[in-house]
Amino acid sequence: MRKRGIEYRHFSAIDSTNAMASRFLAGEVVSEYLVLSTDTQSEGRGQVGTTWQDVPGENLLMTMISPPISWPSRRVFELNMVLSLAVREVLQVYFPVQLKWPNDVLIQERKIAGILIEPIHRGSYVQRLVIGIGLNVNQTEFESGLNATSMKMELNEHLSVMQVKEEVSQKMKDALDTLLATGKSTKSNYLSACLGYGEVCSYEADGQIFPAEFIDVDEIGRQILQLESGEKRTFDLKEVRRVF
Ligand code: BTN
Repeated sequence: MRKRGIEYRHFSAIDSTNAMASRFLAGEVVSEYLVLSTDTQSEGRGQVGTTWQDVPGENLLMTMISPPISWPSRRVFELNMVLSLAVREVLQVYFPVQLKWPNDVLIQERKIAGILIEPIHRGSYVQRLVIGIGLNVNQTEFESGLNATSMKMELNEHLSVMQVKEEVSQKMKDALDTLLATGKSTKSNYLSACLGYGEVCSYEADGQIFPAEFIDVDEIGRQILQLESGEKRTFDLKEVRRVF
């Protein structure tokens, strides 16, 4: 199915839409936006080697493959920022939504969506983006300790996963097209949407818990924290976590 420059293909069950995207790119010419989605994944992938579980048919599990692009690899986090903001914008219509660096989507500190962006680089340019989204739509029970929520839990209403997929896909396409056409970054919008930005909170790194203020992200998306001493420290995703 094709709608406004986006082609959609849906599968009842596969290993992972991101893994499927890699297979597609190895075997087919993808010249415009292509969204692969499924009802359930047997090997759903999360960030930093984690897994992404689902209840079949209840949530949005999709991967958008961009058309060929040419974007400096050193500016890859700008792609990440606009895409996170695009997902937030879709949900913000229904309820207040925050981002958690680098690209978790939260409602009142509970996770509603995760984004797994896998850029394909050629030389020093990103030449294609593979953007995986897991968004909790109608699931109402989660493993204890997950601290998750869903659109249904927030709205008390069953939603069409297909409609949410089309809204998310269209917003992401529009956001990417705009960034690629203008080159204009949205870092201040991204930072102000992030939980803890400009606030002193507790963080843990190297086995130590310490208070710090989230003051910025650098060009490659690392988080910059200012310690009480005034020292600024830069952290990669695996190196720091916020302590709630
Ligand atoms: C995260 O850890 O927060 C990112 C989760 C991304 C999950 C989605 S579900 C659809 C797509 N296919 C995958 O295997 N992962 C992403």
